[in-house]
Amino acid sequence: SSRDGVLEVTLDAAPGRIRIGGRNATTLGYNGGLPGPTLRVLAGDRLAVTLRNGLDDPTNLHTHGLHVSPEGNSDNPFVVVEPGDSFDYEYRLPADHPPGLYWYHPHHHTLAAAQVFGGLYGAIIVEDPQPIPVSRERVLVISDLTLDAAGSLARATVAERMHGREGELVLVNGQLNPAVDIRSGERERWRIVNACASRYLRLRLDGQKLQLLGLDSGRFEKPEKVEEVLLAPGNRADLLVTASEGTTTLRAVPYDRGDDGMMGGMMGGGRGSAGAEVTLATVTVADAGGGSKADALPALPRQATPRDLRGATVTARREFVFEMGMAGMMGGGGMGFTINGREFDGGRVDTTVQGDTVEEWTLTNTSQMDHPLHLHVWPMQVVERGGRAVDSVLWQDVVNVPARSAMRVRIAFTGFAGKTVYHCHILDHEDNGMMGVIDVR
Ligand code: C2O
Ligand code: CU
Ligand code: CU
Repeated sequence: SSRDGVLEVTLDAAPGRIRIGGRNATTLGYNGGLPGPTLRVLAGDRLAVTLRNGLDDPTNLHTHGLHVSPEGNSDNPFVVVEPGDSFDYEYRLPADHPPGLYWYHPHHHTLAAAQVFGGLYGAIIVEDPQPIPVSRERVLVISDLTLDAAGSLARATVAERMHGREGELVLVNGQLNPAVDIRSGERERWRIVNACASRYLRLRLDGQKLQLLGLDSGRFEKPEKVEEVLLAPGNRADLLVTASEGTTTLRAVPYDRGDDGMMGGMMGGGRGSAGAEVTLATVTVADAGGGSKADALPALPRQATPRDLRGATVTARREFVFEMGMAGMMGGGGMGFTINGREFDGGRVDTTVQGDTVEEWTLTNTSQMDHPLHLHVWPMQVVERGGRAVDSVLWQDVVNVPARSAMRVRIAFTGFAGKTVYHCHILDHEDNGMMGVIDVR
C-alpha cells in the first residue's frame, strides 16, 4: 500500500518454479510467483515501479485501465526493456482518478500473449475513498496456462495463435480450484480480473446472491442483481456475494466467442472454451451460528456521478472495422487480423484526436469471432449496442464486440495528451496485428 502518497515497488519479471495443483511447474512471474503483488494506491498518488527484466525476451509494463499519462516513463506501450535491463516507471494518478480494480501486464508487441499466458500479471487497486461495508474483500485474479509433461509452459500452436490461446489449467490467484470459505449471511466483495490471454469467463456462483457493483472502472448507480457475469479478457467485475448455506462452485460456463471460420479449419480448428465448463473454486458456506441473515444492503458510500456522454457534443465520428481475413495471410503479411484493413505498425499513427473533445466511435466486427476492444488511458461509454440505445452509464476500458455485430461508444479525451494504442484484448489477435496507434494532441 502507498504511504504519504507514494508507492515504490520493484517488479522482477523472471522464470521461476512454482507448484500448481500438486505439480512442479516452470512459469513466468513477477517477484517469484503468479499473480504478481497487488498494488494498492489512492487517487492522487504517485506509483513508482522499477521493472527488471530477467526474461530471455524483451518486455515492458502496462497499467491496464489506469487514467495516467500515455507517454514518457508513464504508461508508455512503446517502451522496450531488453533482457537484463531495468526501467523506472512513474505513474501519477490524478486526484479525481476513479477508484476500482485495475491490473498490470506486459505489452511488448508480438510477445504479449505468451508473456501474460506465462504468468506475468497482477492487480492494482485504486482504493475507495470510503470503504464499501462488507465482512470481507477478496481479489480474484483469474488466469490460464498450459503445462507440458515436463511442467514447462506449452507453446501455442498456429491454430491457438489465431483463435487465441486458452490454457488447460484455469487458476484463481495462481491456484487450481482453491477452497473458499464463507459464513452464511455474510456479504463479501469479490473483485475479479480476467487476466487470461484469450479466454472469456462467463462466471456463475449458483445458490448465492450476486449483485454487480460495476465493471472495469465503471460503477452502476445501484448494484444490479445478476445470475452470471461475462468477462472478456482484460475486463474486471466488482461483485457483492451474499452467502447462503451449502457448498457451491465458482464456475466458468461455456461461452461461444465464435471461430475463425476457414482459417481455423485450415489450421486444424480450435474452438476454445465454447464447449467446456471449468470449476474455478470450491466455495463452502458455513452456518454463522445464528448471526443475522442476508440483511438488506446497507447504504453504499456516495460516489462521484460518472460523466454521461450521451448528451455531449460530439466533435468527431469514426468507424473501426475489425476483420479477420485471408488477404493479409496471402499477402505474406501476418495472419490477417486487421482494424480498418491494416495491421499494427508502431511507426504509424492511425487515429489523430483533438484533446479535450468527445468522440463517437462505431465498432464493427465483420468476422465470425468476438473481438474485445481495449483503449488505453481513456475509458469508453457504450451508447448503442446491436442498434439499440444503452440506457445506463458505465465506464469500461474493454468492450466486447460480438461476432458480426456493431456498437457505438463515446470517449472523452481529457486529462492527457500523447500517443498510445487501442487493440483487441484477445492478446494473440493483438500480437497478430489487431492494434492501432492513437495520438491525442
Ligand atoms: Cu490490458 Cu493494451 O492492454
Ligand atoms: Cu490496457
Ligand atoms: Cu480479436
